[in-house]
Formats: sequence, structure tokens, C-alpha cells
Amino acid sequence: MEFQSCVKILNEWDIVAVRQLGRNVAKELHFGIVDQARITTAISELARNIFLYAGQGQVCIEKDFKDGKTGLKIIAKDNGPGIQDIRKVMEDGFSTSGGLGAGLPGVKRLMDEFDIDSKLNEGTTVITTKWLR
Ligand SMILES: Nc1ncnc2c1ncn2[C@@H]1O[C@H](COP(=O)(O)OP(=O)(O)OP(=O)(O)O)[C@@H](O)[C@H]1O
Ligand SMILES: [Mg+2]
Repeated sequence: MEFQSCVKILNEWDIVAVRQLGRNVAKELHFGIVDQARITTAISELARNIFLYAGQGQVCIEKDFKDGKTGLKIIAKDNGPGIQDIRKVMEDGFSTSGGLGAGLPGVKRLMDEFDIDSKLNEGTTVITTKWLR
């Protein structure tokens, strides 16, 4: 791993900070303006979920070089309440908070690879990657 930087999510300012970090790394990797927007939106959604549902956690941004490809990887991790039914939260419109329920399915659509792992009372980890093309 060439580069990894993490931001602890404790308050709403941290969401802004990790979004900015993600934009800077995306620029360094020469992602275009549209992909930069996709990446920063995904980061915001994941950080906001941590803040709202787990209270705190962290979001790490990694540069990923695999099989001659260049990517930006987001790792969002918390030790919050976890998600009961992952299949359900990946459907558009499912929310336990009166939100749009567009966050996680949206992140999956915006990025190229998406993986979610969650255990009740243990926490949630989302790992998602965008490849440069
Ligand atoms: N980190 C997390 N820990 C625990 N539960 C989570 C976490 N992230 C998401 N969830 C659960 O998954 C549901 C769906 O999340 P999603 O981001 O897709 O929609 P939302 O946050 O409810 O609404 P929106 O993001 O559109 O404002 C949430 O309502 C919440 O119950
Ligand atoms: Mg959300």
C-alpha cells in the first residue's frame, strides 16, 4: 500500500475534512472532475452514516495500484450498532432515520467496487473503490 490517510469521524466538521482529503487524493491520482464529485459524494455519505448511526468511527482514503490499474479506495469503519439486514439497506428507499435511504445504494452506483460487512452490536465496515480509466 503506497498511501493511506484516515480521519476520525467525531463531529460534522470531520465529514467536511475527510471529503476534502478525498478530493485532494482524487486530484493527485488524476481523476477527472466528474469522478472527483462521485468520490467525494461517496465519502460524504459514508461519513454521514457513521456520524448518524454509529456516533463515531473513521474513514480512510487509500491509493490502490492493482494489475496495472490505479484506484482510490475508501474504507469506512465503525464499532456502532451494526446493520440488521444488509440486503434491505442496499435497496433504494430503505431508511431507519427518515432519510431518503439513497446513501448506500447511491455509493454502490457511484463507485466501481463495493463491499459491506456488518455485525449487530459490533459495527460496520464499507470498502469501496473507484478505478481510474
Ligand atoms: N454505519 C452504520 N451503522 C449502522 N447502521 C447504518 C450505518 N449506515 C447505514 N445504516 C443503516 O442503513 C440505513 C440505510 O442507509 P442509507 O445511507 O442508505 O440511507 P439513510 O442514511 O437512511 O438516508 P440517506 O443517506 O438517503 O439520507 C440507515 O437508515 C441505517 O439504518
Ligand atoms: Mg445515509
